[in-house]
Amino acid sequence: MPLLEVRNLKIYFDTEEGVVRAVDGVTFSIGPERTLGVVGESGCGKSVTAKAIMGLVKSPPGRIESGEILFYRDGRNIDMAKLNPKGEEMRRIRGNEIAMIFQEPMTSLNPVYTIGNQIMEAIILHQHLSKKEAKEKAIEVLASVGIPSPEQRIDEYPHQLSGGMRQRAMIAMALSCHPSLLIADEPTTALDVTIQAQVQDLMNDLRTEFKTAIMFITHDLGVIAHMADDVIIMYLGRIVESAPVGELFDNPKHPYTIGLLNSIPSFTVSRAKRLVPIEGVVPDPVGAPRGCGFEPRCPQAKEICKRQIPELKAITPQHIAACWLYHNKE
Ligand SMILES: Nc1ncnc2c1ncn2[C@@H]1O[C@H](COP(=O)(O)OP(=O)(O)OP(=O)(O)O)[C@@H](O)[C@H]1O
Ligand SMILES: [Mg+2]
Repeated sequence: MPLLEVRNLKIYFDTEEGVVRAVDGVTFSIGPERTLGVVGESGCGKSVTAKAIMGLVKSPPGRIESGEILFYRDGRNIDMAKLNPKGEEMRRIRGNEIAMIFQEPMTSLNPVYTIGNQIMEAIILHQHLSKKEAKEKAIEVLASVGIPSPEQRIDEYPHQLSGGMRQRAMIAMALSCHPSLLIADEPTTALDVTIQAQVQDLMNDLRTEFKTAIMFITHDLGVIAHMADDVIIMYLGRIVESAPVGELFDNPKHPYTIGLLNSIPSFTVSRAKRLVPIEGVVPDPVGAPRGCGFEPRCPQAKEICKRQIPELKAITPQHIAACWLYHNKE
């Protein structure tokens, strides 16, 4: 049984320019203790998908146009797409069972409260512990994410911590309630490369220790190799390819995925090729696309690609791609 199952999710934004189809029919699932990598260029709908799961898409301008977000527990599921985002049930799930680390830690850490206060507040709210117990627990989680001298750090404010330490504090806050799913939205992009690697290792360790499933969002396919079990590649609000991580690296199918792989430095160097960025830009997601969104940039585009969006097709039972190259007709 999966832990989370997203079915045909569509999130639209009503703007002055028209309807932005930020997420346009996305289906995936995450198993218990699995890490799902979600990869794609800026604007393809990664954060909006994550926020929708957390009930954090602001409405208006956003709305869940259709779809289901099924969260499984005790052998039953609950459709979070139908919950009131501000209601009791959603609040209980958010924080207790599903936690999120945001792209920029300063946006979710409150600058006027100490790190300790913020973690304690989360613990008291969700676990109904006394203040003293919550403080001990906060020190414990700060230590578990590798923050040195947590007894002192607990009294510091977010600005007193380095970027890497802030990100660790965010992870500590997210993990303090032992969620079964952690959504990490580009948790390392703002950090320098060494710290990035440390935070990734830390997340891998914590995943083993706390048995947390992780939805790891990044625009960097290279990061995914060390982090994920399964990968989905998004483009313009849709999934264009999905596979177990080894399969995706060994046998990529969608020209967009191949383009992303070719733009990873280490990956290309080992193949004695030069770094090849994907040419062109992501089209504007306003209005209904007629054909494949990647067609204008695709080196293998055919006539039909302009006219009709390809459905996802199973190449093997676990490997799917949405590309006319793998459809028999035409
Ligand atoms: N509040 C909003 N109003 C209108 N459009 C929005 C809003 N929030 C997001 N969008 C649009 O939804 C699309 C998907 O955005 P999203 O933030 O999910 O991208 P992303 O894949 O997370 O990109 P990045 O890698 O830059 O974080 C974009 O076209 C974005 O402009
Ligand atoms: Mg984002």
